[in-house]
Amino acid sequence: MRVAEKKIVLKEGTECLLRSPEEEDAPAALKFFLTVTEESPYLLAETKECTVEKERTILRRQIEDENGAMIAAFLRGGGEIAGLVSVRRVRASEKLRHRAELGISVVGKWQGKGLGSALLSAAEEWAKKEALKQLELSVFSENRRALSLYEKFGYEIWGARKNAFRFADGRYNDEVIMGKFL
Ligand SMILES: CC(C)(COP(=O)(O)OP(=O)(O)OC[C@H]1O[C@@H](n2cnc3c(N)ncnc32)[C@H](O)[C@@H]1OP(=O)(O)O)[C@@H](O)C(=O)NCCC(=O)NCCS
Repeated sequence: MRVAEKKIVLKEGTECLLRSPEEEDAPAALKFFLTVTEESPYLLAETKECTVEKERTILRRQIEDENGAMIAAFLRGGGEIAGLVSVRRVRASEKLRHRAELGISVVGKWQGKGLGSALLSAAEEWAKKEALKQLELSVFSENRRALSLYEKFGYEIWGARKNAFRFADGRYNDEVIMGKFL
């Protein structure tokens, strides 16, 4: 689903446009996706099979998807994506359609400037407009920055799955499940 465009200004003055990425943004979206998955140990997506063509298909489908939305932050004066949030109904079936899950990431050099907060607000706005009742997400237990962002927005810990994530060095992290009633 497409969301309405919105201009925002980051803490140090950089302007961004929040909008749903379109098919033609596939090269920028792929670059963003490769950057954040390389930088952060806390994202689950695999990048091996990624191509611009596959990205085009993903972006086309998310525009057509009436159960979800993607919102990207495009830096002013270019097509570069600095952050992205994806929010989607858990399922469209009657007993589950009041719930949505979200995932968010910001490129390292744009973190700590208020972009994660702006994207989370935009996702919540979409969810409220869609009459969703609750937003849910899961986070690595040692991901302090993400936990602080969610706590700041009023998300509560609803549970945890022990040792859900295993790093290459053999260390484990619990999956912390958080949620917020809208
Ligand atoms: C988690 C993430 C989305 C936050 O985005 P961001 O743009 O840095 O967020 P903001 O600048 O809006 O900061 C939001 C809050 O995070 C916390 N925060 C920011 N920088 C922090 C830091 N260096 N250490 C700890 N907490 C920090 C603060 O509570 C901050 O609120 P405040 O500015 O009012 O104090 C971003 O760090 C990220 O993409 N990380 C890698 C991918 C990831 O972990 N995604 C989440 C998966 S669940």
